[in-house]
Amino acid sequence: MAPHFASGFDFTDPELWERRSPVAEFAELRRTAPVWWNAQPDETSGGFRDGGYWVVSRHEDVKEISRNSERYSAQRKGAIIRLPNDTTPEQMELTGALLVNMDPPKHSTIRRIVSKGFTPRAVEGLRAALTERAARIVHEATRSGSGDFVQQVACELPLQAIAELLGVPEADRRKLFDWSNSTLNYDDPEYGDPTAAFAEIIGYAWNMAEQRRAHPVGDIVSTLVHAGLDGEALGSDEFGFFVVLLAIAGNETTRNAITHGMKAFVDHPEQWELFRAERPRTTADEVVRWATPVNAFQRTATEDLEIGGAHVRAGQRLGLFYSSANFDESAFTDPFAFDIRRDPNPHVGFGGTGAHYCVGANLARLEIDLMLNAIADAMPALTELAPPVRLRSGWINGIKSWQVRYG
Ligand code: HEM
Repeated sequence: MAPHFASGFDFTDPELWERRSPVAEFAELRRTAPVWWNAQPDETSGGFRDGGYWVVSRHEDVKEISRNSERYSAQRKGAIIRLPNDTTPEQMELTGALLVNMDPPKHSTIRRIVSKGFTPRAVEGLRAALTERAARIVHEATRSGSGDFVQQVACELPLQAIAELLGVPEADRRKLFDWSNSTLNYDDPEYGDPTAAFAEIIGYAWNMAEQRRAHPVGDIVSTLVHAGLDGEALGSDEFGFFVVLLAIAGNETTRNAITHGMKAFVDHPEQWELFRAERPRTTADEVVRWATPVNAFQRTATEDLEIGGAHVRAGQRLGLFYSSANFDESAFTDPFAFDIRRDPNPHVGFGGTGAHYCVGANLARLEIDLMLNAIADAMPALTELAPPVRLRSGWINGIKSWQVRYG
């Protein structure tokens, strides 16, 4: 049985995601064609010009592909499934310097080094500063009575967390935040020039690395750029690209999780009552499943193979649609219920538990938890004034603005 979609339907079409998440279409794929070929004309192929990609819609196949870097490469065509349509091969080449677009053995080496910045101890070390920030953010928003939740509440903590982690001084944070926002939103004309912002972040981070190499101060940047007992360290360029990746990977994702999470609570008041009363520890993961801030990352087949009944040829792309897998009836009981006590919750919002599994997952959980707790303490009766305005992006499930009354 073949699925029934209008001709030209594309699961990474930014205009589609600006309107809605294709929930019904994903459900149809999981039922009828779990690995489905989505043809793409060259002009709207996000710079790939290779005829299209496979949509992987089931939880089990997303995990299988994520866990096998040999057959499924993150490097050959990168992990980002929808680049700007006019992306040149040179620009594509440049993205190969980001960890998320690397294969072993290079990926394993860099990943080992950057993981030192995300140990449970390093993340826990940010708790006090971020708790205080979260309270301050919510306090200021409350004073304004009503406004845009994204700008006033959700957007600040993820940026502050990255800045805290890297020890960026207060005076530089605003410009780092502006560059971060411009780097990612290339499909939405409202934001600044992404290429210029990308270069600015690299330049800024390169300087940081050089300074810490000359004068180590015992912080995480010093740890990453100085070879320890194992003799491994990041070069200044590698560090620069890592900071860009943090700005891309850790900023908008967490912001959207917080916004989608709060919207889910407004739509499910009984869950909000439960959260306020009991603060279940399982909440942040259910928020990430429900929000699925990254719709999809991709891999490229390194050989001819078969998966989910599809015959995939070497060189073809496969989109790992977390936004479908997280609502797969065969992996979750009652997947369309927002249930903050869901346990177990094997969601793939942070990836399918393979080599690239989100290195910032624990930091993201902490941020979501702190923000929701601060909101529950200071603005328990938040209400929606207008529906959220969605982001125009083919791979991020984003909310640009959401008017609410704080209360
Ligand atoms: C709710 C928030 C977040 C979501 C939904 C999210 C999601 C993801 C996903 C889906 C991946 C790819 C996994 C894979 O390919 O198997 C990833 C990788 C990554 N994430 Fe996150 N992320 C979040 C927050 C963060 C934060 C806060 C940071 C750091 C500050 C971060 C840093 C990274 C990095 C560096 C990678 C690349 C890891 C690698 O390639 O080895 N993320 N994230």
